[in-house]
Amino acid sequence: MEPVPNDQIWQQIRAEAVRDARAEPALASFLFTNILAHHRLEDSLSFILATKLESPTVSALTLRDLIAHAFAGNETIRQAILADLQAVVTRDPASRGYTSPLLFFKGFHAIQSYRVAHEYWINDRQTLALFLQSRISEAFAVDIHPGARIGKGIMFDHATSVVIGETAVVEDDFSMLHEVTLGGTGREGGDRHPKIGRGVLIGAGAKVLGNIRVGEGAKIGAGSVVLHDVPPHTTVAGVPAKPVSVPAYAFPALTMDQTIDSPGEADPQAG
Ligand SMILES: CC(C)(COP(=O)(O)OP(=O)(O)OC[C@H]1O[C@@H](n2cnc3c(N)ncnc32)[C@H](O)[C@@H]1OP(=O)(O)O)[C@@H](O)C(=O)NCCC(=O)NCCS
Repeated sequence: MEPVPNDQIWQQIRAEAVRDARAEPALASFLFTNILAHHRLEDSLSFILATKLESPTVSALTLRDLIAHAFAGNETIRQAILADLQAVVTRDPASRGYTSPLLFFKGFHAIQSYRVAHEYWINDRQTLALFLQSRISEAFAVDIHPGARIGKGIMFDHATSVVIGETAVVEDDFSMLHEVTLGGTGREGGDRHPKIGRGVLIGAGAKVLGNIRVGEGAKIGAGSVVLHDVPPHTTVAGVPAKPVSVPAYAFPALTMDQTIDSPGEADPQAG
């Protein structure tokens, strides 16, 4: 899918908010304060995340400033926000346009909040980053260490009970369902978490453990326990996970095809 310019997405979001406010007057004020009162997507998102992450001792106003500061002039985060929004809109049939993830999908909220925490982590503000990790975990049931490195075009569908460890790396165009762990085995220190290639799709409840590599375009079946490298463009499933097939598409994350494809029938380079 071709990237849509920021302005175009923001205008689309505002049009959706106006439509929804007309259709549901009880939410008109909610739609105004979260979307229509703002001039840019980043401002709207800062407000939305701040109101979800506030705590009795750190106000939404303080958090909004901190989030806006992390977004300000940061082209990498800006591009990632847009790519993540587009990822949800194109991959999740439950999404009714851009306002669904922006307002309601906690997988999207968790990833954008993580991006803020990561920004503070890499700029030597670890205490703030850990505070945000803790609030993200409490608010969204998604526990991502701020040191983890996550690309863009990411969708966490449902997102409840997700754990991603400190040294995990997730490349672009990744999708996963709920209850996924990208964790350690407890046997290793240092670099101890999985490395996930581009276009990978991970099914609900899968546990990927240790400093292993899941190759690009791989697919992991629901409930699998993955303890070894997964070759690119391979479907694995089971406990412990074993190769079972070849995905029908080069990047299963993009199609969200959650079936186990028939062995030998698929073209791994097919779009
Ligand atoms: C750590 C762990 C992966 C096993 O480590 P280990 O004791 O070194 O064992 P190995 O990886 O050598 O595996 C030994 C055998 O048990 C199997 N095995 C290991 N963990 C398994 C699991 N969770 N379920 C099913 N089989 C498992 C392996 O496939 C292997 O089988 P094989 O000998 O036929 O090849 C496993 O005990 C575990 O799941 N620990 C919990 C880790 C966790 O929860 N991490 C999340 C942190 S956020």
